[in-house]
Amino acid sequence: MDVPFHKPYITDDEINEVVDTLRSGWITMGPKTIRFEQEFAQYIGTPHAVAFNSGTAALHLALKVIDLQPEDEVIIPTTTFTATGEVITYFNATPVIVDVDTDTHNISIPAIEKAITPKTKAVIPVHFAGQPCDMDEIQKIAENHNLYVIEDAAHSLPAYYKERRVGTIGNVTCFSFYSTKPLAVGEGGMATMRNTEWADRMRILRLHGISKDAWKRYAKGGSWYYEVLEVGFKYNTTDLQAALGLAQLKKVEWLWQKRQDIARRYTEAFSSVPQLITPVVKPDRETAWHLYVIKLNLEALSIDRNSFIEKMREREIETSVHFIPLHRHPYYRNIYGCNPKDFPNAEWIYERSISLPIYPGMTDAEVNYVAETVIDLCNTFKR
Ligand SMILES: Cc1ncc(COP(=O)(O)O)c(C=O)c1O
Repeated sequence: MDVPFHKPYITDDEINEVVDTLRSGWITMGPKTIRFEQEFAQYIGTPHAVAFNSGTAALHLALKVIDLQPEDEVIIPTTTFTATGEVITYFNATPVIVDVDTDTHNISIPAIEKAITPKTKAVIPVHFAGQPCDMDEIQKIAENHNLYVIEDAAHSLPAYYKERRVGTIGNVTCFSFYSTKPLAVGEGGMATMRNTEWADRMRILRLHGISKDAWKRYAKGGSWYYEVLEVGFKYNTTDLQAALGLAQLKKVEWLWQKRQDIARRYTEAFSSVPQLITPVVKPDRETAWHLYVIKLNLEALSIDRNSFIEKMREREIETSVHFIPLHRHPYYRNIYGCNPKDFPNAEWIYERSISLPIYPGMTDAEVNYVAETVIDLCNTFKR
């Protein structure tokens, strides 16, 4: 049985909505993007949602509206995708990379406290696999030190922290709609916030810095006249992506339930396997289950993580690793002098992590096959 790592969940609902857009005569950013923003904001329960062509673009413009400057520092976890750090370098500012907690893989609170300097302007907590970070503690640190909190919620649709939905907590929250994400449109992103001025500025900056509603200039009733207000970016999404987003948003809770079911079944299956450490979800929060990451108990196995992945592949199951910590990449090592010794928890996690397939279209047989194969390999290679 061939089990890919991910398959987007595309049904006739998505196809019909895209065909409707194609037939409408308006395929770039337009009325469906505006509707997608409105429906997303309503779902999250926040005043503003601004759509982008990627989650990275959302993060970039979040840092732009807080006026990040070259001398500033921004604290980020090492266990993340490079996008979290890369956007800081767009300003010639400094990403300050810190360690994470071994249970949730989320940014460590003591590590944030230790990394704060007079130059710190913001912190970007990354809700790993969809599980919210310790937001009360992070908000408190931010208040005490006058920092902005920009949440990297690329994995967290939907997720809850003490019954508050992710997207309503920090200063700006950035979602990704990349193909493997809980809401997938191919490439896309969204920023949510309460600040009206920031939302207006992001809408201008995402389309070359030209006046508000510039997308309408070729529409019936729109005006050819526009003004460039500042240097912006080509970060707008299109109505084709928005069509996919609208169709998926309608079933986002159902898609979540499907991932919850799979996670529950994996955890049950692995509960009595001493060679495995299953994901920990803290009792006061709910994860989106974008990823299901097992950790190998290497002390109880005669096989390492890479070979385990190879064995899974021999059985036609594709897995992945989230993430190669930033401090291990040549760029971050060379430019910021990162040393693995400063990230013992992330190193420990990285050595033993494997992300298993988890997506709504998985059949029961596929879930069972993945679980049975993992358990079989644990038995075969037990020490
Ligand atoms: C943690 C994290 N942050 C940011 C991003 C960037 O999102 P996008 O690919 O939509 O630019 C990703 C995407 O993989 C991610 O996993």
